[in-house]
Amino acid sequence: MNILVLGSGGREHAFVKAFSTESDVDRLYCAPGNGGTGLEAVNVPLNILDNAAVLNFVEQQNIDFTLVGPEAPLAKGLVDYLQAAGRRVFGPGKLAARLESSKLFTRRLLEKYKIRQPRYIACTNADQVRAAADSLGFPLVLKADGLAAGKGVFICNTSAEFEPALHNLLEGENSAAASGRISVEECLTGEELSVFAICDGTRHILLNSAQDHKRVFDGDLGPNTGGMGAYSPTPLSTGKLLQQVSAEIIEPVLQAMRQEGCPFRGILYVGLMISSGQPFVIEFNVRMGDPEAQVVLPLLESSLLELCFNAAGGDLKNARVSVSPKTAVTVVLTSEGYPGKYAKGFPIRGLESVPEGQLYHAGTLRLGDTVVTNGGRVLNAVGFGSDLESAIHNAYEIADKIEFNGKFYRSDIGQRGVNYLKGKQND
Ligand code: AMP
Ligand code: GLY
Repeated sequence: MNILVLGSGGREHAFVKAFSTESDVDRLYCAPGNGGTGLEAVNVPLNILDNAAVLNFVEQQNIDFTLVGPEAPLAKGLVDYLQAAGRRVFGPGKLAARLESSKLFTRRLLEKYKIRQPRYIACTNADQVRAAADSLGFPLVLKADGLAAGKGVFICNTSAEFEPALHNLLEGENSAAASGRISVEECLTGEELSVFAICDGTRHILLNSAQDHKRVFDGDLGPNTGGMGAYSPTPLSTGKLLQQVSAEIIEPVLQAMRQEGCPFRGILYVGLMISSGQPFVIEFNVRMGDPEAQVVLPLLESSLLELCFNAAGGDLKNARVSVSPKTAVTVVLTSEGYPGKYAKGFPIRGLESVPEGQLYHAGTLRLGDTVVTNGGRVLNAVGFGSDLESAIHNAYEIADKIEFNGKFYRSDIGQRGVNYLKGKQND
């Protein structure tokens, strides 16, 4: 088979690496790719938001299977476009992608089908948002309806935090993402985890769970980022909890989407808060997480390609997954200043000293024999271990082998999981 992976982050490098080891693969392409994907695949300078350009490449190169990494092309209807031309592609169509591209679509769907979520009020102007805040009380959460690269969510503990957030969503930085639609939500407290399900429209199969670290600084301080690190699996995800999430959330959502006329085929990222012992849906994404892919995918021992290819064809009937019992941790190495302004183009040293399979590239560019920084999130150091603590230790060993100007990373990735386990031991 000839395979095309779309995207340029650590997540896409993790897909490319997994696919590159499969015996069924003849030619492997990544568009646009990065300094790492170029080693295992052929990087192609395609604009992945241009549906016609992608189809053109797929036809010219006889691509048998396309995997879409990020959400933007999904929300633009790339999957519908390729499918209409008879091409096999994995990811939801535009209407099913609303599970991520519209927070209010998701909230209404979950309400209609009685799936557990925080209380929420849909608002379209400032007066409605203020009235909703009076009714729900502080703390509360304000969310832009549309895609905001993780920056459209505001936790407001007091009215002093509420007014600037409201301004940001209606007139400021995220007004385009909100387009006048805001979800005002009860602020739940508890432990968070993410569960990933490969879905064929009807059936689903779970991969490992994971925990992301969204804030830029240690102790979950500072602004939100795309993700500064992750570990998988999380100690929260017992077999019982996963069964409950499958039966009470994922299965009903897949059925609801069929009933609404937009069956979901793709990877469903279920963001959960465990509050009062029950899982509540905080958000859905319609793709694998980044950096969660960098810890979930390497632990998969069975074929990732077979799973994605069969799900894309609507046939997970006989699917099985086999997962390593190990724990994986990734530490994201960023450019100083990220998620704000940062400089690019610094040479990266130490890449050759990292053992195979323990480094995924993101914002990197290969210039001849040198690899230079080319983005905010630059590299993902991945560690493995028989438990969380040893995987953390191993991931930081890899992180310390790499050097570039302005290298920054959090030093507490996985610590919450370690504390949770210690708390349980002391119970
Ligand atoms: P989201 O982009 O929807 O995942 O939101 C980003 C982060 O905000 C989540 O990972 C949670 O930590 C937090 N969050 C979002 N919605 C809620 C909520 N209703 N209650 C508590 N925390 C929330
Ligand atoms: N790491 C969070 C996300 O991929 O949305």
